[in-house]
Amino acid sequence: MQVTISSGNNINGTLVLPLFEGEEALPEIVEGIPTTLKSQINRVLADGDFKAKANATMTLMGTEGGKAMLVGLGKTDKADVHAYREAGATVVASCKKVHGGELTIVFHDADLASMTSFAEGMMLRDYSYDLYKKKDDDDEDINLSARINCNEGDATALSAAIDRAASIVSGVHLSRDLGNCPPNDMYPMAFAEKAELWAKQYDNVKVEIIDYEAAKRHGMGGLVAVGMGSSRKPCMVIFTLNGDQKGRHPMLVGKGITFDTGGISLKPGANMDEMKYDMGGSATVFGTMEALASSGYPGKVVAITCMAENMPAANATRPGDVIKGLSGKTIEILNTDAEGRLVLSDGLWKAGTDYEPEYIVDFATLTGACVVALGHEATGLWSNDDDFRTRIHEAGNDVGELAWPMPLLPAFEKEMTNSKIADTRNLGAGRWGGANTAAAFLKQFVPSRGEGDDAEQITWAHMDIAGTYWGAKTNKMVGHGATGIHVRTMVRLITGE
Ligand code: BES
Ligand code: ZN
Ligand code: ZN
Repeated sequence: MQVTISSGNNINGTLVLPLFEGEEALPEIVEGIPTTLKSQINRVLADGDFKAKANATMTLMGTEGGKAMLVGLGKTDKADVHAYREAGATVVASCKKVHGGELTIVFHDADLASMTSFAEGMMLRDYSYDLYKKKDDDDEDINLSARINCNEGDATALSAAIDRAASIVSGVHLSRDLGNCPPNDMYPMAFAEKAELWAKQYDNVKVEIIDYEAAKRHGMGGLVAVGMGSSRKPCMVIFTLNGDQKGRHPMLVGKGITFDTGGISLKPGANMDEMKYDMGGSATVFGTMEALASSGYPGKVVAITCMAENMPAANATRPGDVIKGLSGKTIEILNTDAEGRLVLSDGLWKAGTDYEPEYIVDFATLTGACVVALGHEATGLWSNDDDFRTRIHEAGNDVGELAWPMPLLPAFEKEMTNSKIADTRNLGAGRWGGANTAAAFLKQFVPSRGEGDDAEQITWAHMDIAGTYWGAKTNKMVGHGATGIHVRTMVRLITGE
């Protein structure tokens, strides 16, 4: 979707009016509306037919031409950037053929941040995944374009803010495209090839692929154990943005299971198709790199995606196998369906030992238990640093993507390190607290800096997006399928903007 800025009063296509609750007539400041349409709007406001409740819409067709869509922002005192973002998304979700492809948005009393959020909401919601559908002339997608009418004084700043938002949205949409792609076309090396192709458009981006043979050579036992039962072999894909910058830098790690059957600990059949989204962590990381690169972020960021397909096979890993990964610690695999933590154990270890992270954040559709705990409303958030956890929580709040603090308790770590025959085990002792035991397992693979008493574990956070990467019905930014969540959280955390 193209969003442009104009400092005139011209109205093209459908006039979109974001309104507050309790307004009984359009303020005089809203200019340029055809007279009959304006009186119709004033009538529905005066009669209370349109109350402007948050995300309510009403379409009016002018008796003498012109059409308008009213959209509610809710109560004035609650109309923050989130209300504007949701209203923008609601407008796009409510657009039908009758509205045509052109929208002109006229705000009143909206500051720059509010207008930018509204535009962001429109752009985020303007997404559909129809690559695999025959184009039907009848329900052909309308290519939307929107223009925001604003004061001359605001035009330059608003235009720059919207351009930046569009770049970030391109990262969110990339994450969704990757997540929605069917698993016969989205396998580990396909992801890697997409990453290589993507990198070609930026001079300051590098993509390195560690393929199956190299992964075996390097001793990536976790990644190999999960991926070896598939004919689509596993790989690790490493993204570097602005690699020539010196000093510590943010580091992202993603779980990228392109399909999770559970392996020999086979999952039940119902809804197994949804396990194509099990690479959502890697999609989040790739999408974040696109958002940062395309918005021109000048700092260094490195991301590692751990890609594998978890299949049952004659040569698949068994429950009972003991493996050794990059860290040198052994892992007793008690359930092959707890595979995400195995691939991440190598990714986290590599992140902390081969690079100089200021912090590491991993993303994973890791546990059903996290969905039990938080539903589809919030991502589970664990960290070995309380202040860092708060920073991520706040970055999420700032952009309307909730990440809820969860506990990393010593008892959970104990549970994951009391294997009778290995250093760690990939399954908790019982079924309780499964999201926490998974996080506690990951913590065993976050390297420390320094020696002996001075050793300090690298700042790390784990985000379990099993409930939020898809299936989030209250997320107004997306219709169906992959949400692309936390690309914006990470951009906020990394850039501070
Ligand atoms: N990919 C799943 C987690 C998942 C389940 C995500 C449902 C979204 C919806 C993960 O690999 C898995 O299967 N985890 C197991 C762990 C268990 C065996 C300890 C789970 O959650 O049941
Ligand atoms: Zn699994
Ligand atoms: Zn999984």
